[in-house]
Amino acid sequence: MTTSIPLSNGLRMPQIGLGVYLVSDVEVCESSVRSALQAGYRPIDTAFAYRNERAVGRGIRSSGVPRDEVFLTTKLWPSEYGFEKSRAALGGSLERLDTGPIDLVLLHQPVGDVLGAWRAMEEAVDQGVVRSIGVSNFTVADLERLLPEARIAPVVDQVELHPHWQQPDLLPYLEEHGIVAEAWYPLGHGSTSLLSAPAIVAAASAHGKSPVQVVLRWHVQRGFVAIPKSTNPAHIAANLAVFDFALTPAEMAGIDALGKDRPMFRMPRWLMSAVMPLARPRPLP
Ligand SMILES: NC(=O)c1ccc[n+]([C@@H]2O[C@H](COP(=O)([O-])OP(=O)(O)OC[C@H]3O[C@@H](n4cnc5c(N)ncnc54)[C@H](OP(=O)(O)O)[C@@H]3O)[C@@H](O)[C@H]2O)c1
Repeated sequence: MTTSIPLSNGLRMPQIGLGVYLVSDVEVCESSVRSALQAGYRPIDTAFAYRNERAVGRGIRSSGVPRDEVFLTTKLWPSEYGFEKSRAALGGSLERLDTGPIDLVLLHQPVGDVLGAWRAMEEAVDQGVVRSIGVSNFTVADLERLLPEARIAPVVDQVELHPHWQQPDLLPYLEEHGIVAEAWYPLGHGSTSLLSAPAIVAAASAHGKSPVQVVLRWHVQRGFVAIPKSTNPAHIAANLAVFDFALTPAEMAGIDALGKDRPMFRMPRWLMSAVMPLARPRPLP
Protein backbone atom coordinates (compact mmCIF):
# COMPACT_ATOMS: atom_id res chain seq x y z
CA MET A 1 0.00 0.00 0.00
CA THR A 2 2.79 2.45 0.89
CA THR A 3 6.44 2.33 -0.09
CA SER A 4 9.08 2.43 2.62
CA ILE A 5 12.68 3.52 2.74
CA PRO A 6 15.64 2.03 4.61
CA LEU A 7 17.06 3.72 7.69
CA SER A 8 20.75 3.52 8.51
CA ASN A 9 20.05 1.15 11.43
CA GLY A 10 18.48 -1.49 9.16
CA LEU A 11 14.82 -0.68 9.91
CA ARG A 12 12.47 0.61 7.19
CA MET A 13 10.13 3.57 7.47
CA PRO A 14 6.96 3.88 5.35
CA GLN A 15 6.98 7.14 3.40
CA ILE A 16 3.56 8.57 4.32
CA GLY A 17 2.51 8.94 7.93
CA LEU A 18 0.05 10.92 10.01
CA GLY A 19 1.17 14.00 11.99
CA VAL A 20 -0.84 15.11 15.00
CA TYR A 21 0.62 18.55 15.76
CA LEU A 22 -2.08 20.90 17.12
CA VAL A 23 -4.56 18.04 17.50
CA SER A 24 -5.21 18.83 21.14
CA ASP A 25 -8.76 17.49 21.41
CA VAL A 26 -8.00 14.06 22.83
CA GLU A 27 -11.00 12.35 21.24
CA VAL A 28 -10.29 13.82 17.80
CA CYS A 29 -6.64 12.81 18.16
CA GLU A 30 -7.49 9.25 19.17
CA SER A 31 -10.01 8.82 16.34
CA SER A 32 -7.68 10.38 13.72
CA VAL A 33 -4.91 7.95 14.68
CA ARG A 34 -7.36 5.04 14.58
CA SER A 35 -8.77 6.13 11.16
CA ALA A 36 -5.29 6.53 9.73
CA LEU A 37 -4.09 3.13 10.89
CA GLN A 38 -7.28 1.45 9.68
CA ALA A 39 -6.85 3.22 6.30
CA GLY A 40 -3.36 1.68 5.98
CA TYR A 41 -1.03 4.30 7.48
CA ARG A 42 1.81 2.99 9.60
CA PRO A 43 3.91 5.98 10.79
CA ILE A 44 2.28 8.18 13.45
CA ASP A 45 4.16 11.34 14.47
CA THR A 46 3.58 12.88 17.89
CA ALA A 47 5.75 14.72 20.43
CA PHE A 48 5.91 15.49 24.14
CA ALA A 49 5.20 19.11 23.14
CA TYR A 50 1.99 18.18 21.29
CA ARG A 51 0.54 17.07 24.65
CA ASN A 52 -1.39 14.23 23.02
CA GLU A 53 0.77 11.14 23.57
CA ARG A 54 -1.88 9.38 25.67
CA ALA A 55 -4.52 9.90 22.98
CA VAL A 56 -2.10 8.62 20.33
CA GLY A 57 -1.44 5.49 22.40
CA ARG A 58 -5.18 4.90 22.79
CA GLY A 59 -5.71 5.37 19.04
CA ILE A 60 -3.02 2.78 18.28
CA ARG A 61 -4.36 0.26 20.80
CA SER A 62 -7.98 0.62 19.62
CA SER A 63 -7.12 0.43 15.90
CA GLY A 64 -6.81 -3.34 15.76
CA VAL A 65 -3.53 -2.94 13.83
CA PRO A 66 -0.78 -5.13 15.32
CA ARG A 67 1.66 -2.93 17.25
CA ASP A 68 4.66 -4.33 15.40
CA GLU A 69 3.24 -2.95 12.11
CA VAL A 70 2.96 0.62 13.46
CA PHE A 71 5.92 3.04 13.22
CA LEU A 72 5.49 5.38 16.18
CA THR A 73 7.55 8.56 16.56
CA THR A 74 7.68 10.93 19.50
CA LYS A 75 10.04 13.78 20.34
CA LEU A 76 11.81 15.21 23.37
CA TRP A 77 11.37 18.93 23.97
CA PRO A 78 14.42 21.08 24.96
CA SER A 79 13.01 21.69 28.47
CA GLU A 80 13.70 17.96 28.98
CA TYR A 81 17.27 17.89 27.59
CA GLY A 82 20.22 16.76 29.72
CA PHE A 83 21.07 13.15 30.56
CA GLU A 84 18.96 12.71 33.72
CA LYS A 85 16.05 14.87 32.58
CA SER A 86 15.91 13.17 29.19
CA ARG A 87 15.98 9.75 30.82
CA ALA A 88 12.97 10.74 32.91
CA ALA A 89 11.24 12.33 29.91
CA LEU A 90 11.68 9.15 27.85
CA GLY A 91 10.17 7.18 30.73
CA GLY A 92 7.22 9.62 30.71
CA SER A 93 6.65 9.20 26.97
CA LEU A 94 6.83 5.40 27.26
CA GLU A 95 4.28 5.50 30.08
CA ARG A 96 1.86 7.90 28.32
CA LEU A 97 2.03 6.12 24.94
CA ASP A 98 1.79 2.71 26.66
CA THR A 99 2.49 0.82 23.45
CA GLY A 100 5.82 -0.83 24.25
CA PRO A 101 9.13 0.18 22.66
CA ILE A 102 8.95 3.43 20.65
CA ASP A 103 10.08 3.07 17.04
CA LEU A 104 11.70 6.50 16.76
CA VAL A 105 12.45 9.31 19.22
CA LEU A 106 13.69 12.67 17.93
CA LEU A 107 15.35 15.63 19.62
CA HIS A 108 12.67 18.18 18.70
CA GLN A 109 14.95 21.24 18.48
CA PRO A 110 18.72 21.79 18.33
CA VAL A 111 18.95 24.00 21.44
CA GLY A 112 19.88 23.26 25.06
CA ASP A 113 21.87 20.28 26.35
CA VAL A 114 21.64 18.30 23.11
CA LEU A 115 24.58 16.00 23.90
CA GLY A 116 23.24 15.06 27.34
CA ALA A 117 19.88 14.26 25.77
CA TRP A 118 21.55 12.22 23.03
CA ARG A 119 23.33 10.06 25.65
CA ALA A 120 19.97 9.29 27.26
CA MET A 121 18.52 8.41 23.86
CA GLU A 122 21.46 6.10 23.14
CA GLU A 123 20.94 4.43 26.51
CA ALA A 124 17.26 3.89 25.67
CA VAL A 125 18.28 2.15 22.43
CA ASP A 126 20.73 -0.04 24.39
CA GLN A 127 17.92 -0.94 26.78
CA GLY A 128 15.57 -1.84 23.91
CA VAL A 129 12.85 0.65 24.88
CA VAL A 130 13.52 2.82 21.79
CA ARG A 131 14.36 1.34 18.37
CA SER A 132 15.77 4.33 16.50
CA ILE A 133 16.82 7.87 17.34
CA GLY A 134 16.97 10.99 15.25
CA VAL A 135 16.76 14.75 15.24
CA SER A 136 14.43 17.51 14.12
CA ASN A 137 15.16 21.02 12.91
CA PHE A 138 18.91 20.35 12.91
CA THR A 139 20.96 22.35 10.42
CA VAL A 140 24.24 21.19 8.90
CA ALA A 141 26.11 23.05 11.67
CA ASP A 142 24.01 21.31 14.36
CA LEU A 143 24.69 17.91 12.80
CA GLU A 144 28.38 18.67 12.55
CA ARG A 145 28.43 19.19 16.32
CA LEU A 146 26.39 16.05 17.08
CA LEU A 147 27.78 13.45 14.67
CA PRO A 148 31.36 13.25 16.04
CA GLU A 149 29.94 12.75 19.56
CA ALA A 150 27.23 10.25 18.63
CA ARG A 151 27.85 6.57 19.32
CA ILE A 152 24.51 5.84 17.59
CA ALA A 153 23.88 7.93 14.47
CA PRO A 154 20.60 9.78 13.90
CA VAL A 155 18.47 7.97 11.31
CA VAL A 156 16.33 10.95 10.28
CA ASP A 157 16.27 14.74 10.42
CA GLN A 158 12.66 15.95 10.48
CA VAL A 159 12.55 19.46 9.01
CA GLU A 160 10.25 21.85 7.23
CA LEU A 161 10.27 20.55 3.66
CA HIS A 162 7.89 21.12 0.73
CA PRO A 163 8.19 22.36 -2.87
CA HIS A 164 8.47 25.97 -1.68
CA TRP A 165 11.25 25.14 0.81
CA GLN A 166 13.56 22.41 -0.44
CA GLN A 167 16.37 22.78 2.11
CA PRO A 168 19.13 23.29 -0.48
CA ASP A 169 22.02 23.19 2.03
CA LEU A 170 20.75 20.41 4.24
CA LEU A 171 19.56 17.75 1.77
CA PRO A 172 22.96 16.99 0.18
CA TYR A 173 24.50 16.73 3.67
CA LEU A 174 21.78 14.32 4.85
CA GLU A 175 22.28 12.17 1.77
CA GLU A 176 26.04 12.08 2.26
CA HIS A 177 25.58 10.94 5.88
CA GLY A 178 22.80 8.39 5.25
CA ILE A 179 20.21 10.39 7.20
CA VAL A 180 16.64 10.28 5.85
CA ALA A 181 14.91 13.63 5.27
CA GLU A 182 11.48 13.63 6.91
CA ALA A 183 9.14 16.46 5.90
CA TRP A 184 7.12 18.50 8.35
CA TYR A 185 4.66 20.98 6.83
CA PRO A 186 4.75 18.61 3.83
CA LEU A 187 1.72 20.48 2.41
CA GLY A 188 3.14 23.85 3.44
CA HIS A 189 0.70 23.74 6.37
CA GLY A 190 -2.16 23.69 3.80
CA SER A 191 -0.75 26.76 1.99
CA THR A 192 -2.99 27.88 -0.86
CA SER A 193 -0.09 29.48 -2.71
CA LEU A 194 1.65 26.10 -2.78
CA LEU A 195 -1.43 24.06 -3.63
CA SER A 196 -2.45 26.44 -6.43
CA ALA A 197 1.00 26.56 -8.08
CA PRO A 198 0.49 25.94 -11.83
CA ALA A 199 2.96 23.01 -11.99
CA ILE A 200 1.05 21.24 -9.21
CA VAL A 201 -2.42 22.00 -10.55
CA ALA A 202 -1.45 20.84 -14.08
CA ALA A 203 -0.03 17.55 -12.77
CA ALA A 204 -3.15 17.02 -10.65
CA SER A 205 -5.40 17.44 -13.65
CA ALA A 206 -3.22 15.17 -15.84
CA HIS A 207 -3.43 12.33 -13.31
CA GLY A 208 -7.00 12.86 -12.02
CA LYS A 209 -5.58 13.58 -8.54
CA SER A 210 -5.81 16.54 -6.16
CA PRO A 211 -2.98 19.09 -5.70
CA VAL A 212 -2.44 17.67 -2.18
CA GLN A 213 -1.94 14.19 -3.64
CA VAL A 214 0.51 15.55 -6.22
CA VAL A 215 2.57 17.25 -3.50
CA LEU A 216 2.62 14.05 -1.43
CA ARG A 217 3.62 12.04 -4.52
CA TRP A 218 6.46 14.53 -5.12
CA HIS A 219 7.71 13.82 -1.56
CA VAL A 220 7.55 10.07 -2.21
CA GLN A 221 9.45 10.30 -5.49
CA ARG A 222 12.10 12.59 -3.94
CA GLY A 223 12.73 9.85 -1.35
CA PHE A 224 11.37 11.74 1.66
CA VAL A 225 9.11 10.60 4.47
CA ALA A 226 6.10 12.96 4.75
CA ILE A 227 3.71 13.23 7.68
CA PRO A 228 0.68 15.27 6.57
CA LYS A 229 -1.67 16.22 9.38
CA SER A 230 -5.39 15.81 8.99
CA THR A 231 -8.31 15.18 11.31
CA ASN A 232 -10.70 14.75 8.37
CA PRO A 233 -11.21 11.02 7.59
CA ALA A 234 -11.72 11.73 3.86
CA HIS A 235 -8.46 13.71 3.71
CA ILE A 236 -6.66 11.02 5.74
CA ALA A 237 -7.73 8.35 3.22
CA ALA A 238 -6.97 10.57 0.19
CA ASN A 239 -3.48 11.39 1.45
CA LEU A 240 -2.50 7.74 1.31
CA ALA A 241 -3.89 7.24 -2.22
CA VAL A 242 -0.67 8.36 -3.86
CA PHE A 243 0.84 5.00 -4.78
CA ASP A 244 -1.29 4.32 -7.88
CA PHE A 245 0.27 6.96 -10.12
CA ALA A 246 3.70 8.46 -10.82
CA LEU A 247 4.75 11.97 -11.75
CA THR A 248 6.74 12.11 -14.97
CA PRO A 249 10.33 13.43 -14.93
CA ALA A 250 9.03 16.66 -16.53
CA GLU A 251 6.34 17.05 -13.86
CA MET A 252 8.90 16.42 -11.10
CA ALA A 253 11.24 18.99 -12.67
CA GLY A 254 8.39 21.52 -12.87
CA ILE A 255 7.65 21.10 -9.16
CA ASP A 256 11.35 21.09 -8.25
CA ALA A 257 11.60 24.43 -10.03
CA LEU A 258 8.95 26.12 -7.86
CA GLY A 259 10.38 28.68 -5.44
CA LYS A 260 12.77 26.74 -3.26
CA ASP A 261 13.48 29.41 -0.71
CA ARG A 262 10.20 30.14 1.02
CA PRO A 263 10.13 28.54 4.48
CA MET A 264 6.83 29.18 6.24
CA PHE A 265 8.24 29.03 9.76
CA ARG A 266 11.12 31.22 10.87
CA MET A 267 12.40 31.78 14.39
CA PRO A 268 15.80 33.31 15.10
CA ARG A 269 18.19 30.94 16.83
CA TRP A 270 18.75 33.30 19.76
CA LEU A 271 15.00 33.26 20.46
CA MET A 272 14.79 29.43 20.18
CA SER A 273 17.72 29.10 22.59
CA ALA A 274 16.21 31.58 25.03
CA VAL A 275 12.63 30.33 25.05
CA MET A 276 12.44 26.64 24.19
CA PRO A 277 14.50 25.17 27.07
CA LEU A 278 12.32 27.11 29.53
CA ALA A 279 8.87 26.41 28.06
CA ARG A 280 7.76 23.09 29.54
CA PRO A 281 4.54 21.76 27.95
CA ARG A 282 2.19 19.99 30.38
CA PRO A 283 0.85 16.69 28.94
CA LEU A 284 -2.93 16.33 28.66
CA PRO A 285 -4.65 13.51 30.56
N1 LIG B 1 9.35 18.70 14.15
C1 LIG B 1 8.76 19.86 14.10
O1 LIG B 1 9.28 20.90 14.58
C2 LIG B 1 7.41 19.96 13.47
C3 LIG B 1 6.82 21.22 13.22
C4 LIG B 1 5.57 21.27 12.60
C5 LIG B 1 4.93 20.07 12.25
N2 LIG B 1 5.51 18.86 12.52
C6 LIG B 1 4.85 17.58 12.15
O2 LIG B 1 4.41 17.67 10.80
C7 LIG B 1 3.01 17.36 10.74
C8 LIG B 1 2.37 18.06 9.59
O3 LIG B 1 2.49 19.49 9.71
P1 LIG B 1 1.22 20.44 9.66
O4 LIG B 1 0.06 19.75 10.16
O5 LIG B 1 1.49 21.64 10.40
O6 LIG B 1 1.10 20.82 8.10
P2 LIG B 1 0.67 20.02 6.80
O7 LIG B 1 0.53 18.57 7.03
O8 LIG B 1 1.59 20.51 5.75
O9 LIG B 1 -0.78 20.65 6.50
C9 LIG B 1 -1.87 20.36 7.30
C10 LIG B 1 -3.06 21.13 6.76
O10 LIG B 1 -3.45 20.60 5.48
C11 LIG B 1 -4.81 20.21 5.52
N3 LIG B 1 -4.96 18.98 4.74
C12 LIG B 1 -4.42 17.77 4.98
N4 LIG B 1 -4.80 16.89 4.04
C13 LIG B 1 -5.62 17.56 3.19
C14 LIG B 1 -6.34 17.18 2.02
N5 LIG B 1 -6.29 15.92 1.53
N6 LIG B 1 -7.09 18.12 1.39
C15 LIG B 1 -7.14 19.39 1.87
N7 LIG B 1 -6.50 19.81 2.98
C16 LIG B 1 -5.72 18.89 3.63
C17 LIG B 1 -5.14 19.97 6.98
O11 LIG B 1 -6.51 20.23 7.25
P3 LIG B 1 -7.55 19.03 7.70
O12 LIG B 1 -7.17 18.60 9.09
O13 LIG B 1 -8.87 19.74 7.62
O14 LIG B 1 -7.43 17.94 6.70
C18 LIG B 1 -4.27 21.04 7.66
O15 LIG B 1 -4.91 22.29 7.64
C19 LIG B 1 2.51 17.79 12.13
O16 LIG B 1 1.25 17.25 12.46
C20 LIG B 1 3.62 17.28 13.01
O17 LIG B 1 3.48 15.88 13.24
C21 LIG B 1 6.74 18.81 13.12
